[in-house]
Amino acid sequence: MSSNFDHGGNVFGMARELGTTATGITDFSASINPLGLSPLVREAVIAALDSLVHYPDAGHQELKQALADFHGVPPGAIVVANGSTELIYRLPALFSGRRALIVSPAFSEYRRALDQHRREAHHFILSAKDDFVLDPRALEAALEKGYDALYLCNPGNPSGRLYPLPLVEQVYHLCHARGTFLVLDEAFMDFCEESSAKQLVAAGDNAVILRSMTKFSAIPGLRLGYAIANEAVAARLGTMGGPWNVNTLALAAGAAALRDTEHSRRTIEFIQEERGYLAKRLSRFPQLTVYPSEVNFLLLEITNGLTAGELKERLLPHRLLIRDCANFAGLTPHFFRIAVRTREENNLLLECLENILN
Ligand SMILES: Cc1ncc(COP(=O)(O)O)c(C=O)c1O
Repeated sequence: MSSNFDHGGNVFGMARELGTTATGITDFSASINPLGLSPLVREAVIAALDSLVHYPDAGHQELKQALADFHGVPPGAIVVANGSTELIYRLPALFSGRRALIVSPAFSEYRRALDQHRREAHHFILSAKDDFVLDPRALEAALEKGYDALYLCNPGNPSGRLYPLPLVEQVYHLCHARGTFLVLDEAFMDFCEESSAKQLVAAGDNAVILRSMTKFSAIPGLRLGYAIANEAVAARLGTMGGPWNVNTLALAAGAAALRDTEHSRRTIEFIQEERGYLAKRLSRFPQLTVYPSEVNFLLLEITNGLTAGELKERLLPHRLLIRDCANFAGLTPHFFRIAVRTREENNLLLECLENILN
């Protein structure tokens, strides 16, 4: 039985369907660090086990301070959560008004959370034909219709496209001038930290940045994310939801992940190298269009008539899982997304694609 949520990374559901275990599947559908846990994170989680007899630190003090030091913002600008998805579900209660505009294609939970809060979600569609370029004049014209919030994911998921800081600053000012609350999802910004708008958002107002630690630190099963905002916005966001939202193991893992700068450096180098390799090899398939990416996944389009759903089905007997992107607003059923994994795993996928497409 599959879940009600239409995301990548459903390895447990897929393993049940295939009669195998999650470890028997090579998951290209969720974009998780292929180097896995940092050794410091593993040690910290094990060392924290004995503390499970206590309630977690409800104020998240140590991790907040570590994040504040890492990003160069005050600890009061940070809100820690049980994955950034928890914050996505708190956000609609934070801005007044009903209408939200989502720069799309984008993560489907924005819309789901807005629906739950009875907000109207509208899409500002970026075109694949233009490599998902974001034209600030077109966005400005759209914002003129009057929106209470704008959601922008940078780097984009599923596109992989990075919008440079000056462009994001422009978007921030367009929103600010209209009283539109800006939600900037930087879930994949660890790969290009210098492009983060964190300083602007922490010092400004009417905006929030969402960050996820589940992808880069490879702890989606533990859950950890946070927001950066000015202290007033952070205080409001921080008091929504219940206490002890983040468990002791996740708090310890987050602080250890920030300490392991060597693992982070290796991850960035590794992804850059493997993404280049994978994109180059994939672009040799005349039936595939590979979209430019700055992160640990690639968006592709099949141009020979096969749908991504059909391709996914054909890869499953090989126990390879890809993300069919048909359910993203703005994409056709021919788009799919793959994570950048290890060389051996990437070669396995390339070999299977060779057999299916050629
Ligand atoms: C763009 C984006 N934002 C947020 C999330 C949520 O991440 P998490 O709740 O694991 O921190 C995801 C997960 O796939 C994502 O792709």
